[in-house]
Amino acid sequence: MSTTGANNISLQRFAKASLADRATTYALDAVRSIGRLVMRRVKRTADVVNSEYNLLIWQRVLTARAWTKTNDLSEFLIPPNTAQELRKVDNQICRIAAQDYYRYRAKALGELIARHADSKRIVELGTGYGYNLFSLHLDHPEWTFKGFDIAPNGIATGREVAAHFGLSDKVALDRIDLTDASDINFAAINGEVVFTYFCIEQIPYDVRKVVDNIIAARPKRVINIEPTTELLNLTDPRDIVSFLYIRSVDYQTQLFSTLDEYERQGRIRILARERMPFAPSIHNDGFLFCWEPT
Ligand SMILES: C[S@@+](CC[C@H](N)C(=O)[O-])C[C@H]1O[C@@H](n2cnc3c(N)ncnc32)[C@H](O)[C@@H]1O
Repeated sequence: MSTTGANNISLQRFAKASLADRATTYALDAVRSIGRLVMRRVKRTADVVNSEYNLLIWQRVLTARAWTKTNDLSEFLIPPNTAQELRKVDNQICRIAAQDYYRYRAKALGELIARHADSKRIVELGTGYGYNLFSLHLDHPEWTFKGFDIAPNGIATGREVAAHFGLSDKVALDRIDLTDASDINFAAINGEVVFTYFCIEQIPYDVRKVVDNIIAARPKRVINIEPTTELLNLTDPRDIVSFLYIRSVDYQTQLFSTLDEYERQGRIRILARERMPFAPSIHNDGFLFCWEPT
């Protein structure tokens, strides 16, 4: 599995967390996940996702309007935050501050997408308010972006952020329901390079339908970056922690086996399979498949 070019820069700066630090954090994380599994078995339906994201997280970002209180886009995306946590950086678990992680992440994501995309026009499905797109703009100001999401508060936030920083011609947001084959905005991905980032994780009830809808819209290329239980190595303690976490929050568990199956059927061609070298926590690093409809 390959890593990004940002690795060399960050390896000099971030030391691997100690064994004791990792062991304690993994154990606490596992206990929390087991607690969630036992106490309140979450079923991730469309209503649950709407309550969590549209009505809570994106609503909160929209109300706070933090971008109006910052000097520039970079400060909005990477606010000062020295809270140290265990995070995955260059395939290593390090204890680092949020601000350092997100600065590194912006660069690493830009390099990752540039390596797979082969286009200066990028579409994100399930973009939220477009954090990834604004973050990609920092290193690739010549690219243009379209983001689609089901959450009205995410879309409204992204549009305000774009307008505030004079980026409305660079970053456009609109609505899509990825589970709805008749959604007219699927037309916008025809011939385009499309990525998802921790979006299909939220649609465990309809993974196949979402993949079928994307294939039917005939994008040029698709990059799925999503967590899963399918590819975890359950002899690795951290993967056991991830397994428990993913099951406890009911994230998707069939995207990558579906893509493998569709490749065997000749419906798609898979160009790359990787594990993500970075993640903001110990329990939720994604896997990446890059593919094209045949
Ligand atoms: C975990 S967030 C990730 C947002 C963004 N990709 C990021 O990394 O900041 C998942 C997003 O998927 C969106 N989503 C969930 N179900 C969807 C659907 N059926 N169609 C489109 N977007 C959906 C949610 O509204 C939410 O904004």
